Amino acid sequence: MTLRSRIIGIGSFLPEHISTNDDMAKIVDTSDEWIVERTGIRVRHFADENMSSSVMATKAAQQALANAGLTGDDLDLIVLATVSPDKTFPATAVYVQAALGMKRGCAFDVVAACSGFLYALRMADNMIRLGQVKTALVVGVETLSKITDFKDRNTCVLFGDGAGCVVLRAEEGKGTPADRGVLDTLIYSDGSYAPDLCSTGGPSTNHEVGYITMNGREVFRHAAVNMAEVSQEILDKNGVALADVDWLVPHQANIRILEATAKRLGIPMEKVISTVDLHANTSAASIPLALAEGVKSGKLKEGQLLLLPGMGAGFTWGASLIRL
Ligand code: ACO
Repeated sequence: MTLRSRIIGIGSFLPEHISTNDDMAKIVDTSDEWIVERTGIRVRHFADENMSSSVMATKAAQQALANAGLTGDDLDLIVLATVSPDKTFPATAVYVQAALGMKRGCAFDVVAACSGFLYALRMADNMIRLGQVKTALVVGVETLSKITDFKDRNTCVLFGDGAGCVVLRAEEGKGTPADRGVLDTLIYSDGSYAPDLCSTGGPSTNHEVGYITMNGREVFRHAAVNMAEVSQEILDKNGVALADVDWLVPHQANIRILEATAKRLGIPMEKVISTVDLHANTSAASIPLALAEGVKSGKLKEGQLLLLPGMGAGFTWGASLIRL
């Protein structure tokens, strides 16, 4: 008998305000043509002044809980991934815990940038497998617009805000890839690449929140390679053939990274869930947002096998194999 983390609810939230590429061209020297050609991004959602990450995460969580037929009371654990927390401390997860009326268990944040959802999923899945918790909420949320330098055209056109989450529940499986739930998750990091994508600030360095700064070419060089390699590794480790994967649901960095990852891996773009045109890069929120969109559109169906690779600042990267 193997304990599996089965996904029993999915939720998402995107702030109302939409900014088009033409809107971005009014702020910095850029164009719709440049952004679409280099990134595939057409629009992004931006949170307004009063909308924090915990507010967005709570809205997504309420949807996922309703979806699962549960309330906050039923949760034993919240793991929340973000690089745009409400405050330096406490964890954004505890604000979500309070807003959901969850009075027990524990709630904490993980910081792994665009791989954050995979890191959070791994933590929650581990605790479920060990029998430490039965029901967990795993959230990816970002208000990247609040840490974006809107004078820097190299970065400001790339990012958006949003929240996505899943509710996991412990279920007995046979320990084979036919089980439903999270089959496996691999996570990695290499801190020597931290300067290539980071915030310009931090409480223990310059006391500032800082803005996103990025060496775009270096990120691009590693992203597709790392995501394709870790995808193949998790398939091999679990004895699953690429042909058995129904959908690739990758971190939505930009369309060229998605295409390069799919090509390296050998999976056709028809099997890739892509939301980058409508959401831009929402870092930790992008994979659960893509999951939610995939389910809403009717593409992702129960019983299907999903491969979720991600890569982000750190550098961090990883992949999860999930049977829906
Ligand atoms: N509009 C117009 N021109 C721009 C813009 C913009 N928004 N941004 C940069 N440029 C200019 C540059 O200044 C440069 O001009 P120059 O030649 O006069 O110096 C020119 O465009 C070409 O710049 P390149 O860096 O060669 O452009 P490139 O084809 O590499 O595309 C991009 C840049 C899109 C950032 C690319 O490097 C990329 O996709 N990198 C990955 C970054 C990414 O996705 N980061 C997300 C976070 S990490 C993650 O999620 C995995």
